[in-house]
Amino acid sequence: MPIFSSLNCNTDERWVEGCQVSEQAGADAIELNVSCPHGTHIMAQVDMLETMAHAVRIAKAATKLPIIPKMSGQLDAPARVAHGLAQAGADGIVMFNRFTGLDIDLETEMPIMHGGYAGHGGPWAIHYVLRWISEISPTLPIPILASGGVAGGDDAVKHLLAGAQAVEVCTAIVMEGWGVVERILKEMADFAEDKGYASVADFRGKVVVMNVFASWCDPCRAEAPILAHEQRVLATQGATIVGVTYLDNSTASEQFVKQEHITYPVLRDVNGTLVRSFGTDAVPETFIINRQGKIQALRRYQLNNTWLKRTLPSILAERS
Ligand SMILES: Cc1cc2nc3c(=O)[nH]c(=O)nc-3n(C[C@H](O)[C@H](O)[C@H](O)COP(=O)(O)O)c2cc1C
Repeated sequence: MPIFSSLNCNTDERWVEGCQVSEQAGADAIELNVSCPHGTHIMAQVDMLETMAHAVRIAKAATKLPIIPKMSGQLDAPARVAHGLAQAGADGIVMFNRFTGLDIDLETEMPIMHGGYAGHGGPWAIHYVLRWISEISPTLPIPILASGGVAGGDDAVKHLLAGAQAVEVCTAIVMEGWGVVERILKEMADFAEDKGYASVADFRGKVVVMNVFASWCDPCRAEAPILAHEQRVLATQGATIVGVTYLDNSTASEQFVKQEHITYPVLRDVNGTLVRSFGTDAVPETFIINRQGKIQALRRYQLNNTWLKRTLPSILAERS
C-alpha cells in the first residue's frame, strides 16, 4: 500500500529536510501542507499561490518523490491557484484543507476550540469541495485528491464522480475509529455492485458533453434539437450532456429549455466563472470531457451530427 508523508514546514530549510527524511523513511509521495496550523497563511494575508508554488519548487529540487500540495479552500480564485501549482511542478493537488472558522460557547461566551480561530470541518464541507473539483478537474493537467466531508462510501463516490482520483478521510476516522475505512470501502463496493461497475475506475467519471448556450443565440437554438436527441442516446451509454447558460437571464433560459424539450441538466453560471475557466467568450461552444475529466474535443460554433459522430464514439469507448 503506498504511503504519503504530510509535511508542514515554515522555512525553506525545513521543507528540504522534511522531503529528505520522507524519502529516507520510504514514503511514496509527499503532501505539502502549506496552510497549517489552520489558516496561518490566510490569516497573514500572504500571496497563497506564490507561497505554495515556492514550497513546491523547493520540494521538487529536494526529492524525486511526487509532490502534492494541499490547497486551502479559502482562496479567492481556487482554479487559478490549482493551475499555478501545476505550472510550478506539482504532481497532484489536495483540495482542500479545513476551513478556518470560529465558534463561541454561549455558557462561557468564549471561543470554542483552541481558544480562537481553528480548523472547522464536517459533512457540510463536502459540497464546496465537490463544486471546485468538478470545475477544476477538466482543465487541470494533474490529478486531484479530494479532502473534506467524507462520512461514508457515498461521499467518497461523489468525490470520484466529480473528478477526483483519490479521496482523503480524517474527521470520520476521529469520530468512528479506523473501522470507518472498512465501512467506506464496503459502501463503495455496494454502490459499484448496484450500478454494475466492475471497479472504482469504471465509475470514476461519466463522459460529459458540456454545451454552453444562451437563449438569445440563434445557432444555439438551431443545434438544440440535435442535443436533445443525442441525450436520449447518451443516457444509455454512461454519458450525459450538461448545458451551461451564458450571459442569459433565468426566465429566458428556462423558457428555452422548455421549448427545446431539453431533459439534461442545465447549470446557471451566474457570474460566468465556470464558462471563463473553459476559455469561452462566445456561444455556442461544446466540450467533450472524457471519463478522466479531461477535455478531449471542442467545437467553437454551432455543432452538427457529423461532428458528434466523428468525435464521440472513441471517447465513449475509452475506459478509465
Ligand atoms: C483533528 C484534526 C487534525 C488535523 N490536522 C491536520 C494537519 O496536521 N495537517 C493537515 O494538513 N490537515 C489536518 N487536518 C485536516 C484534514 O487532513 C482534512 O483535510 C480535513 O479534516 C478535511 O477532511 P475531513 O472532512 O475528512 O475531516 C486535521 C483535521 C482534523 C479533524
